[in-house]
Amino acid sequence: MPRSKHTILIIDDEKNTRDGLKLALEDKYRILLAEDAIKGLKLLNENQVSIVLTDLRMPGMDGMDFIRQVMAGPQKPLIIMLTAYGSIQTAIEAMKLGAYDYVSKPVDLDNLEMMIERGLATLAPPQDDQDSKKAEVLSNIVAVSDKMKKLMELVTQSADSTATVLLLGESGTGKEVIAHALHALSNRADKPFTAVHCASLNQNLLESELFGHEKGAFTGATSRFIGRFESVEDGTLFLDEIGEISLPTQVKLLRVLENRTFERVGGTEQLNMRARLVAATNRDMAAMVREGTFREDLYYRMNVVTIEIPPLRERKEDIPALLDFFLKRNQDAKSHHIVGFSPEAVNLLTAYDWPGNVRELRNCVERMTVFARGQVLTLGDVPAEIRQSIAKQFEQSRQDAQTQEGTASQQDEPLDVKSNEKALILKALAECNGNRSHAAEKLQISRRTLQRKLKEYGIQ
Ligand SMILES: Nc1ncnc2c1ncn2[C@@H]1O[C@H](COP(=O)(O)OP(=O)(O)OP(=O)(O)O)[C@@H](O)[C@H]1O
Ligand SMILES: [Mg+2]
Repeated sequence: MPRSKHTILIIDDEKNTRDGLKLALEDKYRILLAEDAIKGLKLLNENQVSIVLTDLRMPGMDGMDFIRQVMAGPQKPLIIMLTAYGSIQTAIEAMKLGAYDYVSKPVDLDNLEMMIERGLATLAPPQDDQDSKKAEVLSNIVAVSDKMKKLMELVTQSADSTATVLLLGESGTGKEVIAHALHALSNRADKPFTAVHCASLNQNLLESELFGHEKGAFTGATSRFIGRFESVEDGTLFLDEIGEISLPTQVKLLRVLENRTFERVGGTEQLNMRARLVAATNRDMAAMVREGTFREDLYYRMNVVTIEIPPLRERKEDIPALLDFFLKRNQDAKSHHIVGFSPEAVNLLTAYDWPGNVRELRNCVERMTVFARGQVLTLGDVPAEIRQSIAKQFEQSRQDAQTQEGTASQQDEPLDVKSNEKALILKALAECNGNRSHAAEKLQISRRTLQRKLKEYGIQ
């Protein structure tokens, strides 16, 4: 069963024809009826119509004028004409105006249905399916924290706009993921999405890659090359690591953004830029502008919409969900089944600062699943370097807390003894591979006290 029916609008001044067609088609499609072209146009404005079946000779506005008007409008349904014997010539004229096909009256219903199905196959799915596609895009992006939820709202809202988007964020925060979502959620979703990694190409190669070049434009240019601005058509062009492009290339890019036209390197033909541009960088662009390494005018052109993806350590609520997300994703490829993470492992991994952000977390989960010893991933499965960095991280924050304690009576919040204690216990366990006797020794408490505390803090 299709998720949502296509809508067919039937326009004919003869009631019998309207009713007959409705009866034949209403099982499979949503049917709208109009007895003249004016009423048909009105229904077309108010509904998302996939196909129009229209008579050609009608009182008031005739079929040809109707087709002209529809073709000039925003919605472009497929138009199939119902033609009386002897008006084939008119039908052919109508097809020149953009009509899809015609059937002769009296209508052979099997023939008509086949034509409709053929036509529908060329159309984008009706709105509900598009919604479900969008839901699928969103379901592949973990956004549990308020920060990420707000960000995804902004992404969804700005997807359809043509405004250039600048994505800012540390390495591994998901800039490419968001760039792709901006495309997949937009009305360009079925057009190309192309990423250019600006940092990996030198100035000349990058300019060729972006704008293309003509044969003989430089030594080695043995034939014409179509650049990304051209091949992406009216899709989305993602310029990654935009902060790395040279000043001369910045000038050229600025000109393209200002005029929305460009030329292939060594060429004179003016080509239109139709793509939507999304750029990303992990550099501090404002600082680069101040230092003069990035042009201010280009910076303002680029960040019409700025989306800043916070580092993972500033949205720790996403961590447990990301752990599960990547675990599930890995499972498909694995033969043995891992049920999940133990609560302590989740606690520990949530406490970690993830300098490599989501990418580091993904790699960590992959390693943990490859080396897993049981069905549940526990503290002992957390990679050693991560445990060591967490230990260091805690050591650091304990020292910071002590210095603060020494100096600060004006401190706002009282130190949270319990969460510090819990953190210390987790740290000790991490350092001792989860061995409780060793951890107790390290903490200079008895094993029984440790047991009690573990219970108190809900650590298994
Ligand atoms: N919110 C998220 N939900 C699910 N997966 C994510 C999310 N954010 C990032 N990822 C995944 O994390 C990895 C890194 O993301 P991405 O490549 O988009 O980061 P980036 O910001 O472009 O990094 P860099 O600056 O290093 O290029 C990818 O595998 C991506 O699929
Ligand atoms: Mg990237």
